[in-house]
Amino acid sequence: MHPSKLKNLHDLTDEEFDLIFPLEIRRKSATHFTPIKIAKAAAQFLATEPNIRILDVGSGAGKFCFVGALTTDAHFTGVEQRANYCKCGDEIANKYSIDNVSFLNTNIDRIKFKDFNAFYLFNPFFENLSPESALDQTVFLDDELYLEYSAYVHKQLEQMPVGTRVVTYHSSGPEIPSTYQLKDSLFKTYLKFWIKKA
Ligand SMILES: C[S@@+](CC[C@H](N)C(=O)[O-])C[C@H]1O[C@@H](n2cnc3c(N)ncnc32)[C@H](O)[C@@H]1O
Repeated sequence: MHPSKLKNLHDLTDEEFDLIFPLEIRRKSATHFTPIKIAKAAAQFLATEPNIRILDVGSGAGKFCFVGALTTDAHFTGVEQRANYCKCGDEIANKYSIDNVSFLNTNIDRIKFKDFNAFYLFNPFFENLSPESALDQTVFLDDELYLEYSAYVHKQLEQMPVGTRVVTYHSSGPEIPSTYQLKDSLFKTYLKFWIKKA
């Protein structure tokens, strides 16, 4: 795709946008990556000021991060445990000169949330409960890990300041502490907007 086309995101369908990904990764998009209109709504809610640092917890090849970076002035960091997805995100950021995106190839339990201001989660740990629906079988998956990673995120979010914003997509919410208030639910309530109140 020509880089100039990406700048006019509102003219693109998800299928057109997904041409930035190589075929074997593009095939996973409809199930595993955030659709453009959802990503735009989430990014708008999270990007309350320029240069704010937004973390995508389990970023895949970066679709949420790229849509957010192209439609707001925030900086998006994706943390992704699968090296090939992370590498793909880096290559796209370079190819299309998208400067307000970066990726970290590591596990979420290595990340200090205090280094960021706002957070996005598209049900990243669910694959541990449903290995047959995972992106691939290259990582160890286990029920216990779902609980462990959710508890880690919960604890990190608890330590964030009042006013911290989080968006969850298709999540049943075990990662969200009770100190966060649900501000809105969109897209048949699959997309939830949270703000820390106490
Ligand atoms: C549903 S995909 C979402 C992709 C991206 N956030 C988007 O919306 O376009 C979830 C991603 O989380 C990653 N993931 C799952 N558990 C993780 C963990 N413990 N640490 C880092 N990444 C993880 C998976 O590898 C997968 O790429």
